[in-house]
Amino acid sequence: MPSPLRLAIAGLGTVGIGVVKIVQTNGEMLARRAGRPVEIVAVCASSRSKKRSADVSAYAWEDDPVALARRDDVDVVLELIGGENGAAKALVETALKNGKDVVTANKALLAHHGNALAALAEANGRVLRFEAAVAGGIPVIKALTEGLAANRIRRVMGVMNGTCNYILTRMESAGLPYDVVFEEARKLGYLEADPNLDVGGIDAGHKLSLLSAIAFGTRVDFDSVQLQGIGSVSIDDIRLARDMGYAIKLLGVSQMTGRGLEQRMTPCLVPETHPLGQLQGGTNMVVIEGESVGQIVLRGAGAGEGPTASAVMGDVMDIARGLRVKTFGQPAETLTDAPPAVVSAGAPWYLRMTLLDKPGALAKIATALGDAGISIDRMRQYTHDDAHAPVLIVTHKASSDDIALALERFRETGVLVGEPVAMRIEEM
Ligand code: HSE
Repeated sequence: MPSPLRLAIAGLGTVGIGVVKIVQTNGEMLARRAGRPVEIVAVCASSRSKKRSADVSAYAWEDDPVALARRDDVDVVLELIGGENGAAKALVETALKNGKDVVTANKALLAHHGNALAALAEANGRVLRFEAAVAGGIPVIKALTEGLAANRIRRVMGVMNGTCNYILTRMESAGLPYDVVFEEARKLGYLEADPNLDVGGIDAGHKLSLLSAIAFGTRVDFDSVQLQGIGSVSIDDIRLARDMGYAIKLLGVSQMTGRGLEQRMTPCLVPETHPLGQLQGGTNMVVIEGESVGQIVLRGAGAGEGPTASAVMGDVMDIARGLRVKTFGQPAETLTDAPPAVVSAGAPWYLRMTLLDKPGALAKIATALGDAGISIDRMRQYTHDDAHAPVLIVTHKASSDDIALALERFRETGVLVGEPVAMRIEEM
């Protein structure tokens, strides 16, 4: 009988317990598929007495995660604690230095320390895998590092925060403003302890930075991700964008341009006919464009016990089978430093503004666009009250700098009521 692969689990929250259940329920199948048994030998969590939905009494208990990482009877440590520093980081570093492979679901840890941790893993002859950190149950890391390994990647896009997609799609379906749906999401337990991780785009930005590293062979550079959350997206914009044939998504986009690596996690308009535009509720979607493969679309649950545990166990099964892929798909020392692209690639833009309803107001706006070198593709003026006229413009391709200049010129016209809204339209 081949030797078992011995697991230690640090963190018995939703994901940790999901892993315990898979191992307990599917043990025989895992052994058959891996060619060797997969066993849990030790666990660690903040409270031993807490009531849990799986029985962990058969496993050795450690109070200290670092002690768990030092155990001689463990081959693989599963870091399911979370957080970018503290116990999670100490655990991963100790495990790698003590000859254990590591599987983690921790996007924040890797977004901030992924380069150093990947190098540490390699220096110790270990693997550090993180399928569960990006888009929950969707095997997107595997797709990029393995199935698409022979492709030059052109662009990676994704809706990778289910909470934001829930909020945006619920605002539209129920006709409710952001603040009301945010409170609903809080009551449903969808939001992270720090909600800004979700609605500020940080969680999804962490994930995008990890995909960029694999897709473009670059060092993880979360600090260069252009981040904008969904707090400023209004129900008016959601409705008007729909009227023009678009859905608003918190969309991550990563692409290598002549000006450097562009990484954005911002509210964008996407065509309502594209799978991204049709994505409802808390589901995630990742779209990858490769030179040879063309565009592929991966869709699935981005969070939750089963999906996230499935991704963790996918990494465990690779290790059990002897598949030892580098953290970011190539040796850490070969990852390059890409300069961040300061100006985004050109795109059509959605502009919404309210104008004083007086002669020449629209002409001034059109002139301001022309002065900024921006051409109008489509324009609509909606029913207006006595003095104000809501106007919607879709531009031809323009750079973010050109749009910023146009908005500046708009303000100088004296015909604007309130602030204009500008959102990029991502072409598919
Ligand atoms: N809070 C995340 C989401 C899941 O809503 O998708 C964990 O990254």
